[in-house]
Amino acid sequence: MAETTSVVPLEKIPAHVAIIMDGNGRWAIQRGLPRLAGHKAGTENLRRVIRASVEFGVKYLTIYAFSTENWGRPPEEVKGLMYILEDVIDHELNELHKEGVQLRHIGRLERLAPSLQQKVLAAIEVTKNNNRLILNIAFNYGGRDEIVQAIQRIIKSGIQPEDVTAVTVSQHLYTAGVPDPDLIIRTSGELRVSNFLIWQSAYSEWYVTPTFWPDFDKDEYLHALQNFAQRDRRYGKVSSGELQESNA
Ligand code: IPE
Ligand code: IPE
Ligand code: MG
Repeated sequence: MAETTSVVPLEKIPAHVAIIMDGNGRWAIQRGLPRLAGHKAGTENLRRVIRASVEFGVKYLTIYAFSTENWGRPPEEVKGLMYILEDVIDHELNELHKEGVQLRHIGRLERLAPSLQQKVLAAIEVTKNNNRLILNIAFNYGGRDEIVQAIQRIIKSGIQPEDVTAVTVSQHLYTAGVPDPDLIIRTSGELRVSNFLIWQSAYSEWYVTPTFWPDFDKDEYLHALQNFAQRDRRYGKVSSGELQESNA
């Protein structure tokens, strides 16, 4: 912690980091390995990034693990990704629990195998009182799907149209109660959103790196945080520095 805070002041550490963990397939292909080997390596890396997040003092970490569009991949790959989620819960839950990580899920559980749904729900229940790091796993997650469901729930709740505000929408998303992401990291160089947190990212800062996800290490994570610490987040206004100058 001391090492991090000397490089990034604690007040400049983003409360919520969200990551599009991309490039596992290309990482594997570069090495002449099957794509699933890339997903395995990516999962190993996730463990390191979760630890680093706890160490850096990040409060919320949201990771994009499987999108609503990823069902369109070859069945073997989809099966492998499902298996990886199950394996992570089976083998990492105790350690994550000990470290004070609270697991949450965003997305639709319905389409997963009933046994996997049960595992996810049990992991959420076991860790629900932890508060060192809230880890949101976006699995079978789609931003549009999330907004469509929010609209359905708002209509069902009987709220009058003129009473619907941006806050109402936020409160009906999977992420209700979670602050919007301050920093979104996308590995593997793609310059697109790919249906991730499209409502919540309205004023997020982006960090895109060509590094493939399995190689995104603690040093590069720290570099992303340093880079974030230097951003001037204006939210459509003018920077506080400029205001002071003009008032002088
Ligand atoms: C990200 O890596 C992991 C998932 C989408 C599940 P990819 O599998 O998308 O890797 P590339 O983009 O094909 O290299
Ligand atoms: C986004 O990556 C989804 C995840 C990282 C889980 P994709 O690889 O699916 O996105 P596209 O297809 O390049 O937009
Ligand atoms: Mg990809």
